[in-house]
Amino acid sequence: MFNKFRQECENLLDGKRLELPPRGVDADLAFPCFSLAKEQKKAPQEIAKELEQLLSRKEKKLVGEVKAQGPYLNFYINHKKFSPLALKIILKEKENYGAGRKNKKVVVIDYSSPNIAKPLTIGHLSTTIVGQALYNIYTFLGYKCIGDNHLGDWGTQFGKLTCAYKKWGDKAKVEKNPIEELLSLYVRFHKEAEQDPKLEDEAREWFRRLEEGNKEATTLWKWFVNVSMSEFNKLYKILGVRFDYFIGESFYIPIAKNIVGEVLRKNIAKKEQSAVVVTFEDMPTALVQKSDETTLYMTRDLATIKYQKKKFHFWKRLYVVGSEQKLHFRQLFKIAQLLGYIKEGECVHVDVGQISLPTGKISTRKGNVIFMEDVIKKTIELAEKIIEEKNPKLKNKKIAAQKVGLGAIKYSNLSRDRSRDNTFDWDQMLSFEGDTGPYLQYTYARANSILKKSKKTGRVGKLTDVKETNMIKKLSKFSETVEKAAAEYKPNLLANYLFEVATQFNEFYHSVHVIGAEDESQKLALVESVMQVLENGLRLLGIDVLKEM
Ligand code: ARG
Repeated sequence: MFNKFRQECENLLDGKRLELPPRGVDADLAFPCFSLAKEQKKAPQEIAKELEQLLSRKEKKLVGEVKAQGPYLNFYINHKKFSPLALKIILKEKENYGAGRKNKKVVVIDYSSPNIAKPLTIGHLSTTIVGQALYNIYTFLGYKCIGDNHLGDWGTQFGKLTCAYKKWGDKAKVEKNPIEELLSLYVRFHKEAEQDPKLEDEAREWFRRLEEGNKEATTLWKWFVNVSMSEFNKLYKILGVRFDYFIGESFYIPIAKNIVGEVLRKNIAKKEQSAVVVTFEDMPTALVQKSDETTLYMTRDLATIKYQKKKFHFWKRLYVVGSEQKLHFRQLFKIAQLLGYIKEGECVHVDVGQISLPTGKISTRKGNVIFMEDVIKKTIELAEKIIEEKNPKLKNKKIAAQKVGLGAIKYSNLSRDRSRDNTFDWDQMLSFEGDTGPYLQYTYARANSILKKSKKTGRVGKLTDVKETNMIKKLSKFSETVEKAAAEYKPNLLANYLFEVATQFNEFYHSVHVIGAEDESQKLALVESVMQVLENGLRLLGIDVLKEM
């Protein structure tokens, strides 16, 4: 609804773009007159005054006063019209409040994308959660989203794994505990290879056989994939994450092999010994084929773009992947452009920083990994303890703990700048106060308890109290916020906004009595609409609300 107000302001100014005024200025939108002043060779203050005069005579609806303040022209909402309308829209549109109109643009989102035979770690937690949030946000705005889990199911590591399994593996053990067992084989391979470098040659040979379709290598590989996938799916289910496709890297090998010829023919790459490389002016050289002629991560990624552009006609392809792969994606996108597969800006690396536990970083190779599963389990257990303390009488505590625990993990990932590295902090993220998931869920539950206590039903009335109109103004900015979060690929903009809504609501709640107020029905309507915005926003972030907690 705020965007309707913005639209009206901008129409009054023949489409000029308005700004949100800085903190401390009480206007709702402002127009800086500097550029007009330059054009007309007048002082900006003078322009502001002239515009004020001109616009005061024009007919306005959602726009109330227009006032010059120094070089700025300030616009104010006409709350009499705006507030009841804004509130009615929220209550009418309900779970669709803030949604965009369906459009035909396809957004492919590549997220989670773990490597087979390795565990999902707390590092994957962020790419999975951020990817799913972007998926939800874009879908809500009307785009057609395709969630693609680009499984790392190919590469030299499978040569190593096969080699290790053949030497030291135990079928029953792997079947019982697939990921841990395969990981320990992989770790053992690296340890032993330090002593005995010949192992590396053997592993390479196994991978070459796999690429050639050798039967034994293929059967083992398929088995590694299957046991890993069933483990991954368990966790995805707990997290409430879903994908439309799981197209692993292996799918792209035939296309990747052709691409090597294509980059050579188009003079984008050259042969160096028997490897194929692309050189750039502003980046290090990229390898598209190794000297043993097996494909690479890069080549398979090129094949993915080529294939998916044809199949999905994507408008954008988002790669929600760790920031350590920045160079890889810069090179990839550049080569894909040179090949004519995409135009600039169609592929985007939505980079995600590393998460570490207070004890240190995470590396699969050395074996000191932090499994996603353990982190989730521990968080839910802690949530259960807290709920037990705070509200021992609550029904279905286990379900509540699951929602609060997962909410805490997701919110802590989504409320911070995704590109920055983070430490996992249980005390902070599970706190019921401050910028946390549980705080937002608690605010929602508290609002719900007001509705339950009251015997009346919500009805939109006159709305003259500034605390109320300010609350509504905040709620009216929901859809603008979602759009901005999508445009900048930053779910944290939405998370931060929801935190502000909750904080403002809690202030409101402390300063007025809803139950028993003269205009109780109207206040209830406001409470309901706050709940609706929190619910819609949290749903986009993949966080469940609770009626009670
Ligand atoms: N499997 C890779 C990893 O875990 C991430 C893949 C990301 N997606 C892509 N198209 N490269 O590092």
